[in-house]
Amino acid sequence: MLVLGLESSCDDCSAAVVRETPGGPVLLAMTRKSQDELHGPYGGVVPELAAREHLLQLRGVIAGALDKAGLPLSAMDRIAVTQGPGLVGSLLTTFSASKAMAWREGIPWVGVHHLLGHLNAARFAVPDLPFPALALLVSGGHTHLYLARDWSHLELLQKTRDDAAGEAFDKTARMLNLGYPGGPIVDTCARSAERAAAPFTPPKFRDGKAGWSFSGLKTAVRNRIHGEAGLDAAGVDDPRVRALCRTLQETVASWLLKPVPALRDETGARALIVSGGVACNSELRAQAAALAGKLGLVLAIPEPRFCTDNGAMIAAAGAILAPAADPWSRNADPNLPL
Ligand code: KG4
Ligand code: ZN
Repeated sequence: MLVLGLESSCDDCSAAVVRETPGGPVLLAMTRKSQDELHGPYGGVVPELAAREHLLQLRGVIAGALDKAGLPLSAMDRIAVTQGPGLVGSLLTTFSASKAMAWREGIPWVGVHHLLGHLNAARFAVPDLPFPALALLVSGGHTHLYLARDWSHLELLQKTRDDAAGEAFDKTARMLNLGYPGGPIVDTCARSAERAAAPFTPPKFRDGKAGWSFSGLKTAVRNRIHGEAGLDAAGVDDPRVRALCRTLQETVASWLLKPVPALRDETGARALIVSGGVACNSELRAQAAALAGKLGLVLAIPEPRFCTDNGAMIAAAGAILAPAADPWSRNADPNLPL
């Protein structure tokens, strides 16, 4: 089965052609237009600009993926598109285009939840993963830990109480004037650090319930930056900046993985999936590999190009979901529930 997957829920516009085989999904072609330069000066995504840019990029992105695969649109057995959650203007562009293409060519159509996309990105890494699995989905908008019963059913176990983990990276980079998006910059900076900075204290919750909080970490980073003269303008070559980046990512990675051992015992999980943009992080990947090895869990972390928002993950999820009987009544939903 050939699936065209489309994703434009935030600031990336991506299309992919994926062949679903008995051995798992195989990527035939993928295109992606990033809007980092457009949003860079604002230090974050400007929704109105993102939607307008998607409109301009969309045709070239879709035609580019089909061209690279050497296949016409009419050869697709299915069109899969992100239905939500995300920025409504961004979602609507590819969502409307996908329905128009499905209608014109008479191709079955499937709307995909963005997080099922991030989950299914892991099928490219380990297609025959044993279930149940713990699925840590971390991005600029999500920090959620689920119990995955299979590749399409997620039960929420724990989530952030405030900021997403990706925001901790993006906001740190912004406060240090390092650029946007912050995750990859902080990661590169951290890897060249010769030393770590003083550790950050984990938050304590009065209600005693499980969860994460990253807004306190953001404040702690801000206080450190304000406490050291010139740090906000020092740049990536300054050893103090590198040390701070290293400690930040060591902290985020260890906080994210902390609940895994107890939840493995509670749920009987056999595997650990880590996906979403933050799963590109070198420290999180290393700590997850070490922990999975220690706990005897099969680990599935997608290649970085499948971790950040991309069309291939939407195609992979769309391949295993049932197509909609009536796509025309469907609409993009910025708060789509799972
Ligand atoms: O999944 P994604 O592309 O978009 C959302 O759905 O949000 O994730 C983007 C997030 C951004 O916050 C970005 O800074 C972060 O993923 N990110 C990273 C790295 N690469 C991207 N965070 C930490 N380390 C990285 N190497
Ligand atoms: Zn995402």
